[in-house]
Amino acid sequence: MSTSLLDRVNAALATVQDPEIKRPITDLGMVDSVDVSDEGVVSLKVLLTVAGCPLKDTINRDVTTAVGGVDGVTGVALELGVMSAEQRSGLQDTLRGGQAQRDIPFAQPDSLTQVFAIASGKGGVGKSSVTVNLALAMSALGRNVGIVDADIYGHSVPAMLGVADQRPTQVEDLIMPVPTASGVSVISIGMLKPRRDQVVAWRGPMLDRALVQMLTDVYWGDLDVLLLDLPPGTGDVAISLGQHLPGAEVLVVTTPQEAAAEVAERAGTMASMMHQRVIGVLENMSYLACPHCAEEGTEHRLEVFGSGGGERVAATLSKRFGYDVPVLGQVPLDTSLREGGDTGKPIVEADPTAPAATVLRSVAERLAGRGRGLAGRQLGLTPSTQS
Ligand SMILES: Nc1ncnc2c1ncn2[C@@H]1O[C@H](COP(=O)(O)OP(=O)(O)O)[C@@H](O)[C@H]1O
Ligand SMILES: [Mg+2]
Ligand SMILES: [Zn+2]
Repeated sequence: MSTSLLDRVNAALATVQDPEIKRPITDLGMVDSVDVSDEGVVSLKVLLTVAGCPLKDTINRDVTTAVGGVDGVTGVALELGVMSAEQRSGLQDTLRGGQAQRDIPFAQPDSLTQVFAIASGKGGVGKSSVTVNLALAMSALGRNVGIVDADIYGHSVPAMLGVADQRPTQVEDLIMPVPTASGVSVISIGMLKPRRDQVVAWRGPMLDRALVQMLTDVYWGDLDVLLLDLPPGTGDVAISLGQHLPGAEVLVVTTPQEAAAEVAERAGTMASMMHQRVIGVLENMSYLACPHCAEEGTEHRLEVFGSGGGERVAATLSKRFGYDVPVLGQVPLDTSLREGGDTGKPIVEADPTAPAATVLRSVAERLAGRGRGLAGRQLGLTPSTQS
C-alpha cells in the first residue's frame, strides 16, 4: 500500500526547519492546517512566531520548495499567519522542555556544550576577528556553534557576520539568536540596547544581568560549542562570566609586542582567579609575509609589531598556573582578513587556504576536536592560582 499524498506532504513539512529555532516546523506547532485537493493542490497555513518575522521569506521559500517537490503535488497555496499569544506560550513551553527553570544551560553538570571565552588585554588585537573565524571554522567541521558577543565597547561580531542590522525575534520572554548564512547563531549585547546608536554605559549589576540574559533567555538549542567575545581587559564582564560559567575555557589573544603581552597576561590571570582554565594563547598580527620575497618564491616575514608576545604570554601563564598553556597559533597580517570582517564574509569562508585562514582553521580543529562529552570536559581539577 502506498502512502497517501497527505502523508507525504506532512513528511516533507517535517524536513523544514524554523531558521531561528532550528527544529522542524511540524514540532513547533507552526503548521496550522494542510489540505490536499483531488487535483493535487496543497493549501496550507503556516504560523510565524511573531508578526513581521525577519525570516518570513526563508520560511515561505523552504515550505514551498519542500511541498512543491513532493511527487503528485501540482500546486502550493501557502498562507502565512501569526501565532496567537496562547500558541506562543505553548511554543515557549515546548522549547523550555516543560521546565520553568531559568538556569544557565551551559553551567549544568550534564551540559555537553564546550564553552570558550575569547579574551584579550586590550582592544584592537583581533579578538572579534578570531571569534568569528573560529566559529565559522568549527561550524564547517559540522559543529553547532553559537556566539555571545559580550564586548560592550565593540560589539562588532554581528557586522563581521553580515547581520549588523538584524534584531532577534522574541517569543514571549524567550529570545531567538540571530541565524547567519553560515549556520552560526549570534546574540550581541548591542542587540539588547533599545537603540542602535546608544552607547552602552552599563556597569556591574546591569552588565551581569545582560550577560545572564544572553545565556538564559536566549534559546540556544543543542549547541556543541559556545564562543564568547569578551570585552578587552579584566573588567566586570570577565568577573560575571567567571561566576556564572566557571567551566568556560579561556583563549587569550595577543599581538607580538611587549606592551600587549603584559596586559594579555593580566587577562589570563584574571580567568584563572575565576577558576577558569586558560586553554592557550593565539598570537595575531604576528608578521606580514614580504610581498617582494614572496614573488621570488622565498619567505620573508616582516615583524611589523615586534615578536615574541605570544610565546611570552604562554610561558608566563604556564609558570603561574602550573599547567601547560600553549601558543595555539600565529596568525599573520592579511588584508583579506580585515576585508572579510568589513564585508561580513570572514576569511575562513572567503579565502580558506590563505595562511591566516589556515592557522585559524587548525586552531578551530584543535579546540573543537577535543570532542563532545565528558572526555573533553574540564572536571574541576584546575590547579588554583596563587594570585
Ligand atoms: N591578522 C590580521 N590581519 C589584518 N587585519 C586584521 C588582523 N586581525 C585583525 N585585523 C583587523 O584589525 C581590526 C581590529 O580587529 P578586531 O577583531 O575588531 O579586534 P578586537 O576585537 O580585539 O578589538 C579590524 O579591522 C580587523 O579586521
Ligand atoms: Mg572586538
Ligand atoms: Zn622581503
